[in-house]
Amino acid sequence: MKPLFPLEDATCRHLAEAHGTPCFAYSAAAAAEQFSSLRKVMPPRMRLAYAVKANPHRDLLACFAALGASFDCASIGELERVEALGLPPGRTFFAGPGKREAELKKALAMGVRVQAEGFEDLARLDVLVDRETAVNLRVHPAFDIDEGNRIIGGSGPSAFGVDEEAVPALLQKAANLRHVRIRGLHVFAASNQRDAAKLLAIHGAVLSLAQRLHEAHGLAFEQIDLGGGLGIPYASEQAPLDLATLGRGHAELLARHPWFTGELILEPGRFLAGPCGMYLARVVRIKESRGTRFAILEGGINHLIRPLLTGEPFPVKAVGKGEGSVQYTLAGPLCTSLDRLGEARLPELAAGDLLAFGSTGAYGLNEGMTHFLSHPVPPEVWVG
Ligand SMILES: Cc1ncc(COP(=O)(O)O)c(C=O)c1O
Repeated sequence: MKPLFPLEDATCRHLAEAHGTPCFAYSAAAAAEQFSSLRKVMPPRMRLAYAVKANPHRDLLACFAALGASFDCASIGELERVEALGLPPGRTFFAGPGKREAELKKALAMGVRVQAEGFEDLARLDVLVDRETAVNLRVHPAFDIDEGNRIIGGSGPSAFGVDEEAVPALLQKAANLRHVRIRGLHVFAASNQRDAAKLLAIHGAVLSLAQRLHEAHGLAFEQIDLGGGLGIPYASEQAPLDLATLGRGHAELLARHPWFTGELILEPGRFLAGPCGMYLARVVRIKESRGTRFAILEGGINHLIRPLLTGEPFPVKAVGKGEGSVQYTLAGPLCTSLDRLGEARLPELAAGDLLAFGSTGAYGLNEGMTHFLSHPVPPEVWVG
């Protein structure tokens, strides 16, 4: 099993002294290993497009690009970061439910494949291009998608994609477009899913949906994008995703759908970026209040908001202090009782002690409320 903390205590101490705290550190070796471990098990007809929203750090993008990754972007800012990598056309995708005209123009200028989320995207693109342009259609499926997962939002109403039952009407309208042609399907239906069987069930349902659309409407799909959602452990008792099973399952899926001769796409964000990251912050003070012992840290939800959003904390350890069993509530420095990074059993702590949070490479700093209270933005260090 891979460690939750990719950097040794001595490295953490050195980084904290050299760069100051709080800071984020990303292990190049852990990022490369994560990408390669997924690439190795996937069939050749599976493209891996890193979801930039998980962590847009320049060196991380360059690391994945060098390993052959494509990229999934969802804003003009993300497109610009990928553009800076100087990749050939065809390695970038552009999704998002609210694409503005400037963003579509940028995507077209970069030769990016657009994931249309509704007829408006198709129509806007059609007036911007003067030759045949292939796009993928994002569909919000009617089947049971990772229900109960707040990030995905279930199979009820959704701001994302075209409702499956509305696809025939959309295709009728799309037939009148001059240049834009639907050549791919995109379905995003899981989040932080560590169960390979569940992911395969969802991906199987996506291929069946593609087959129905192919047979009923003659859609010739060059690409079927299965979205992201591959999970990672956030605690030592959580089993990692069984990659061998996932890879075998995808090869079997392709074999079960001989009508589909194009390529599959996965867009993992968390899975590729999460494990390489550590967040380092020192204890500012310890406070006892009515039976609760608080460790008040240099950073909180301004840097890591995920525990507040999902209720799931990041794994944490006290650098150089080993295991411990003192119960702490980890609070940040912001003026709100929402500023909590979770509860943890740690050794006896004192002001100045260094804490290290693992699995913080995805949805870490770039999701935090960095402007709130105007604390300085922490440095992000690439540990090559
Ligand atoms: C379109 C799209 N693709 C990929 C991802 C990445 O998801 P994850 O980090 O769960 O793999 C997201 C996440 O929101 C997304 O919206």
